[in-house]
Amino acid sequence: MTFLITAGPTREAIDPVRYISNRSSGKMGYAIAEAALDAGHDVILISGPTNLAPPRNTKFVSVSTSDEMFDAVHQHADSSDVSVLCAAVADYKPAQVSPLKIKKRAGEFWLELVPTRDILQSLGRRQNRKFLLVGFAAETDHLEANAREKLRKKNCDIIVANDARIGMESDENELLILFRDGETKRISRAPKKFLARELVKIFLKFATKKFDKKDVTITERT
Ligand code: CTP
Repeated sequence: MTFLITAGPTREAIDPVRYISNRSSGKMGYAIAEAALDAGHDVILISGPTNLAPPRNTKFVSVSTSDEMFDAVHQHADSSDVSVLCAAVADYKPAQVSPLKIKKRAGEFWLELVPTRDILQSLGRRQNRKFLLVGFAAETDHLEANAREKLRKKNCDIIVANDARIGMESDENELLILFRDGETKRISRAPKKFLARELVKIFLKFATKKFDKKDVTITERT
């Protein structure tokens, strides 16, 4: 099977020397990529800027902004059997990017932000989707309720939810996995490399149940 995985943060430019970003390290996405490769699958890894070396044997696509990640995902999603959108995509970007460095002035400074496009939701909306769609949810409160709402709104098959305060920039995480049919599964705190192997097994089990590979139509899970 082919896995498409997004990882890391995006950077939204303000001017040539400044950007808006977040604390995502990319570790979870890279660990999933490694686990999928170890299990003998092909991997397309679409990554924002991180300090990690891409695993060998991946098709590696390096991006910076949410728009670049959106285009790369849409270019490669149909080649995948499982798309796992793990990246911490910025929700907003500056309305305008200044071509010159913005100089310091006296008084307050206001930056106008506009929403970025939601990549996961754009894939979830596609009528003819033939790949399993997995999203992540990093929350600080009401974990299950917020993640369940993301699963519904973004129309994905699985949401992997975690407490952002445990997972961000860390080697460990604790996961709550929500499935489209209402089923839930918890994995208690463990190294991301261990969690990644468990996730790959879970995605594959669900993908083989969910998709009738003869004419690859989406069927209800029994
Ligand atoms: N995501 C995406 N494109 C965006 C924002 C988020 O594809 N522009 C994806 C993430 O990769 C993740 C999922 O949506 O798989 C949830 O991301 P998260 O940041 O937890 O949720 P948001 O939709 O941004 O909502 P909020 O910030 O309100 O929690």
